[in-house]
Amino acid sequence: MAFHSGRHFLQIPGPTNVPDRVLRAIDHPTIDHRGPEFAELALEVLEGLKPVFGTTQPVIIFPASGTGAWEAALVNTLSPGDRVLMFETGQFAALWRRLADRLGLQVDYVEGDWRHGVDPAQLEARLAEDRSHSIKAVCAVHNETSTGVTSDIGKLRKAMDAAGHPALLLVDAISSLGTTDYRHDEWGVDVTVAGSQKGMMLPAGLSFNAISQKALEASKTAQLPRSYWRWDDILEANKDGFFPSTPATNLLYGLREALKMMQEEGLQQIYARHERLAEATRRATQAWGLEVLCQNPAEYSCSVTAVLMPEGHSADALRALILERFDMSLGAGLGKVADKVFRIGHLGHLNDLMLAGTLAGVEMGLSLADVPHQRDGVRAALQYLAESAGEK
Ligand SMILES: Cc1ncc(COP(=O)(O)O)c(C=O)c1O
Repeated sequence: MAFHSGRHFLQIPGPTNVPDRVLRAIDHPTIDHRGPEFAELALEVLEGLKPVFGTTQPVIIFPASGTGAWEAALVNTLSPGDRVLMFETGQFAALWRRLADRLGLQVDYVEGDWRHGVDPAQLEARLAEDRSHSIKAVCAVHNETSTGVTSDIGKLRKAMDAAGHPALLLVDAISSLGTTDYRHDEWGVDVTVAGSQKGMMLPAGLSFNAISQKALEASKTAQLPRSYWRWDDILEANKDGFFPSTPATNLLYGLREALKMMQEEGLQQIYARHERLAEATRRATQAWGLEVLCQNPAEYSCSVTAVLMPEGHSADALRALILERFDMSLGAGLGKVADKVFRIGHLGHLNDLMLAGTLAGVEMGLSLADVPHQRDGVRAALQYLAESAGEK
């Protein structure tokens, strides 16, 4: 690797840049995780997380990556052979489905084109057909990190209600929490799965289950084998600010600081900032003459934009060139869109000038890689950012 001075540009859709304040908070001597100082920290973060999920109900913290919290959501609520309805919105929906298969669940998988979110009408129709209510859970990925497409969770809840179906609603908000308006209680989500390393501005290593009363009830009769992921043991210990096994104490110090930063900025301002940076990215993409993978503007992601390469050009070669020449990491295309798209992460600890630098790196990379495009992307983005500067 060539030597590069200055800061690396990490513009993948997670793990994201960790603010210096959070890094400093993590840099803390080890403390006794069964002592009073720890309990104070744990109670503070367990409470402080709730508004970010839009809930007043419990949020569970696991020392695990997001995949662990996916598994926890399923094993705590379901029994072997239960039917679950899942939608192929992209690579992460596919991986959650594989996990459900491996656990012995019976998955009804609705195929998709990776360019659209979950269709509420299709969900309603599938549930209406299930007169015996054999489908026990609906699983949806709020923000498909592999495609930059969101699904409207509020509309999915309405579709479930319209079908009069009692299935649980399990939502992956791993790359939308802390970037996009999220309302666990209002939307009647039963389990929200999230992780630390994206909008929450932390390293990977913490993941979350926000749970409804209905999910808690379901966990009392669910039969899938579970031990480490058991909510009941964790909730019991959490009452006094403790965990049944060793917690990731230093990440919890980081979480406390990240929550403080989010409170200082304000959740609505955070969502508006992400919306604006995402819009600037799309304007740049359109001005380059390239196509955004997401086909429905109502489903554009605030966290990440997947950009389609012109036919015959390799997204991976472009990313490799940009890394080598400009020391910037962009997200790779995953699964079905491998090498066909590159992804610009615009989430977490990010501002106008960081995005401007990112888009400049992409535009220079497109030129150097001889990818057909117009050199107007950065200009279009800067114009939009300048015009909308007062709006946050
Ligand atoms: C939407 C989504 N779901 C699940 C995962 C898997 O999480 P992890 O890699 O933290 O286990 C990711 C990771 O990028 C993701 O973006």
